Amino acid sequence: MKVPFLDLKAQYESIRPEIADAIQQVLDKTAFAGGPFVAQFEKEYAAFCGTQFAAGVGSGTEALWLALLALGVGTGDEVITAANTFIATAEAISYCGAKPVFIDVEPGTYNMDPAKLEAAITKKTKAVIPVHLFGQMADMDPILAIARKHKMFVVEDASQAHGAEYKEKKAGSMGDIGCFSFYPGKNLGAYGEGGAVVTSNPEFDRKVRMLRDHGQEKKYYHGMIGWNARMDGIQGAILSVKLKRLPAWNEARRKNAALYDDLLKKVKGVAIPKKANYCKHVYHIYSICVNNRDAMIASLAAKDIHCGIHYPIPLHLQEAYKSLGYQKGAFPAAEKAASEFVSLPMFPELTRSQIDTVTGEIRSILEPRFSR
Ligand SMILES: Cc1ncc(COP(=O)(O)O)c(C=O)c1O
Repeated sequence: MKVPFLDLKAQYESIRPEIADAIQQVLDKTAFAGGPFVAQFEKEYAAFCGTQFAAGVGSGTEALWLALLALGVGTGDEVITAANTFIATAEAISYCGAKPVFIDVEPGTYNMDPAKLEAAITKKTKAVIPVHLFGQMADMDPILAIARKHKMFVVEDASQAHGAEYKEKKAGSMGDIGCFSFYPGKNLGAYGEGGAVVTSNPEFDRKVRMLRDHGQEKKYYHGMIGWNARMDGIQGAILSVKLKRLPAWNEARRKNAALYDDLLKKVKGVAIPKKANYCKHVYHIYSICVNNRDAMIASLAAKDIHCGIHYPIPLHLQEAYKSLGYQKGAFPAAEKAASEFVSLPMFPELTRSQIDTVTGEIRSILEPRFSR
């Protein structure tokens, strides 16, 4: 049985008429760049996140970049983030002219280790970006406490955590600003590129709105140098349709993850993902740790079961960040994860028999005597 890593088509088929109708409405109103459909989605998404404001932008990368610019991050500043994340988190820091400073992650959750945060702070540290990796929020209470003590801003990279919770608070609502990606494969995915910046601080929201629209609040009156980072009208309309379904889709992911946990927890050589008791995990990614990861991925691919790796090289060892001077061994937990992670197929429409197929194959690879 073929098991894709992701099946966007299955989800599209379940909402096809509503999507067609939403796109038609945008076409009828020719509201293509920003406009009423984006504004409506922003209202709905702020309510969903429990923040006062949400600003739609062109991607998650732009959300992070504009958030940092709105906080005044610039040349000479340092911003601390986790070594094990997608490169966009660090690129946004670099694109402000600031320096990314990486710290290690907690073994188990693979989120920023708050115990490592204080030692990385210098006089130049302006902000910290916890990344809610794979759909589980970082341990926000100690991170926020340290940030407040040192007067640093907190920007949540919630690109993988739409609807995730920490002690019943929604991802994106706990720091000064929260950033989201709506890349198509995300838990809430656009049909193209998209992102959002959420906050309850009116000044940060105002700045992000200006920055995304050439620094203007009134057309052709430019109060600052900005950029074009507006969200498309069509994406706003599509995201409004999909947002209504997000809680049910997240529940389906959680159910699939519970099944995976159950079927894999006793398989020798598999470490299932750790759920922190303070979090509601929304499983953007379901990643197990195994030795000999590449051989396992190849064996599964030979059976038409498709996996991913998030991510094979931690950021401090990426060629792009060579100039920062980090060495191998600097962040053992992030490096171990990078060499052992296997992301299994995960999407709301995954079926019980697909999960049985994936887990059965993993078991027969690792425990050949149980081979079917
Ligand atoms: C943790 C994280 N941060 C930032 C991004 C960047 O988002 P986008 O691809 O929408 O620019 C992503 C998306 O892949 C992500 O996973």
